Amino acid sequence: MKEPKLKTVYVCSNCGETSPRWMGRCPSCGSWNTMNEDVVAEAPKAGTAAAKQAAAARPEGVTTLTAKRLSEISMTEEKSRILTGISELDRVLGGGIVLGGVVLLSGEPGVGKSTMLLQLCGAISNQHSVLYITGEESVRQVKLRAARLKVPQDNIFLAAENDVDEICGLIEKEKPDLVVIDSIQTMRCMDISSSAGTVSQVKESAARLLAVAKKQEIPMFIVGHVNKDGAIAGPKVMEHIVDTVLYFEGDKMLPYRILRAAKNRYGSTNELGMFDMTGQGLAEIENPSQMLLEGRPLGVSGNCVACTMEGSHSERDPGPCHQDEFPGPTACLQRLRLQPHESADRCAGKACRVFLWKPGCIYQHRGRHCAA
Ligand SMILES: Nc1ncnc2c1ncn2[C@@H]1O[C@H](COP(=O)(O)OP(=O)(O)O)[C@@H](O)[C@H]1O
Ligand SMILES: [Mg+2]
Ligand SMILES: [Zn+2]
Repeated sequence: MKEPKLKTVYVCSNCGETSPRWMGRCPSCGSWNTMNEDVVAEAPKAGTAAAKQAAAARPEGVTTLTAKRLSEISMTEEKSRILTGISELDRVLGGGIVLGGVVLLSGEPGVGKSTMLLQLCGAISNQHSVLYITGEESVRQVKLRAARLKVPQDNIFLAAENDVDEICGLIEKEKPDLVVIDSIQTMRCMDISSSAGTVSQVKESAARLLAVAKKQEIPMFIVGHVNKDGAIAGPKVMEHIVDTVLYFEGDKMLPYRILRAAKNRYGSTNELGMFDMTGQGLAEIENPSQMLLEGRPLGVSGNCVACTMEGSHSERDPGPCHQDEFPGPTACLQRLRLQPHESADRCAGKACRVFLWKPGCIYQHRGRHCAA
């Protein structure tokens, strides 16, 4: 068969929109500077021999596929889910890891995605075997992290690899109970000519890994980096094909991390998990209210406590406002003239630092007042 002809296109790293020409702004999602060069195989022209070959006739009624009777499919919860024992994570996942479920864990570099997943591997490794594929670090680096986090290492298998087809082969051969892919932006399908991290690579790599996970009923966690300048394809381009999308967020200057589900085929998207990044890894924060109220200057004018609800968790937390009024969090923010998810140092008279996380009004207070 003739090799397909290659052509250059420009693909938006945020939404996947393509254009034959470079554009400063994506016509579909409106992001700036996200149209990057990519190489794809040109579809054969309609009516040509190549097109006819591509659309080879399907013989009628011939298949290897069989359908199962719905009533015969097992669904006992203990069989279909793995509880990690990390309750903050289990809750966000909707009650543990679903067999064959593919979870995208996205977040900015350095937020702690690899740490979280290595701890997760350790947590389930006494009963389950885990295959951890690293495309970013050497096996030695992962080993050093595992030693620092003190995770049990006997049932965790490690491979440093970027070739998706090799990885799929390894998963089918080893049949682990859980697979971690760290990260999708370092993965490559060798038959696609564009480089790792481009939209076509991210999409196709994710699709191939997903197919193996579904077929083998192996749960899979895929790390996806978010970066604002759009130089690498964002996890957005694969969000629609995975079962669950988790965002891991936090302020670089603070140790607190929030895990939330943006999409979940197997649970609610209203739950939040809170963690504290320590030298020994992520520690669950079981009582966020206590944590957030600690270090609050007592009896200081300009302090109020707002209670906001997220899922089944409530967080009480100090926010800046005047003592003689007690506005809700939204009023508080208006007073600061903040947009949700902005941070600022400013408040009328007295100033404090406020950190906000989407969605809703979970925000954090430095516990320190400074003059405006
Ligand atoms: N020796 C250490 N002691 C304490 N914290 C560390 C140490 N090494 C790394 N970290 C923390 O781990 C973070 C990196 O986590 P990592 O899981 O590699 O992030 P990601 O995979 O999301 O890029 C760092 O930002 C830092 O907060
Ligand atoms: Mg990492
Ligand atoms: Zn776009």
